[in-house]
Amino acid sequence: MLLDTFGRQATDLRVSLTDRCNLRCTYCMPEEGLQWLAKPELLTDDEIVRLVRIAVTDLGVTDVRFTGGEPLLRPGLTGIVERCAALEPRPRLSLTTNGIGLERTAAALRASGLDRVNVSLDTLSPEVFHRLTRRKRHADVLRGLAAARASGLDPVKVNTVLMPGVNDTEAPDLLAWAVENGYELRFIEQMPLDAQHGWQRDGMITAGDILTSLRTRFSLTPEPDEARGSAPAERWLVNGGPHRVGVIASVTRPFCRACDRTRLTADGQIRNCLFAREETDLRALLRSDASDEAIATRWREAMWGKKAGAGLDSEDFVQPERPMSAIGG
Ligand SMILES: C[S@@+](CC[C@H](N)C(=O)[O-])C[C@H]1O[C@@H](n2cnc3c(N)ncnc32)[C@H](O)[C@@H]1O
Repeated sequence: MLLDTFGRQATDLRVSLTDRCNLRCTYCMPEEGLQWLAKPELLTDDEIVRLVRIAVTDLGVTDVRFTGGEPLLRPGLTGIVERCAALEPRPRLSLTTNGIGLERTAAALRASGLDRVNVSLDTLSPEVFHRLTRRKRHADVLRGLAAARASGLDPVKVNTVLMPGVNDTEAPDLLAWAVENGYELRFIEQMPLDAQHGWQRDGMITAGDILTSLRTRFSLTPEPDEARGSAPAERWLVNGGPHRVGVIASVTRPFCRACDRTRLTADGQIRNCLFAREETDLRALLRSDASDEAIATRWREAMWGKKAGAGLDSEDFVQPERPMSAIGG
């Protein structure tokens, strides 16, 4: 098991498949992109599947989410999903994607064993999308979402980050659209994880702002805490249900006490927290012919030292060196 000194057990593994992305969201990456990892630095498909196998069979991981960067840019994605779905015990498999190309791949991913998907979309306006992501791909994302739903991936969630003066007035429209289309909408508070270090606590749209805005048009009933478990999103029933909306308030209402995450970067580093300042190198171990047991032991050690909380809202918070796109969001 992956335990830490605060008694938490990590059962949810986030696997970053690439640090590259085909969007340039202003809150994530600079316009010119970043210095990408070179191919030899990336874990191979075999190395990823081996680490997921160790996590699932030896370390108690039950859920695996593929992310990035943009995971649909990884050529071997469908094969990786298929091989992970064949593991015993079978983990629940999910994907976080910007949805570009999902129109073509959703059915194959579903057939390979992917269970569910989160698609990031911050606006209903193609113009605002262009301004936020610096790319004209809004229609691709909408088609990707529709294909995900048609393929039987369930649930299809939509992740939205609100930026002041850009899309912050759209919350009620986005919720109405999500309810109408059968997507579960989750707002994520903007976090200090952008490569440009441009995050400002004072300017960010908080969970409180989001709820106030949604309540101008909807009645929201909080789901009981038991229903939340270790999920990062607090959820509300919309107009009495059955539709729900979630808010991930990483900054203003952190959920570190219930955190069940362990993270693997595309270059084979374990992070025990999104905001950790240290990483543990499993790639070197993998490439030195280490046994499964030696890798599992190193992974356990990496998780044992996990801090109580990330402290995003505290004065002395220091942003991690790697941005979200390189860690795996
Ligand atoms: C880093 S992306 C990686 C996966 C994929 N490319 C996508 O767009 O979903 C994962 C999620 O992180 C969110 N994200 C990126 N930077 C963020 C930030 N600074 N604060 C909050 N969320 C952020 C994105 O909006 C997206 O929903």
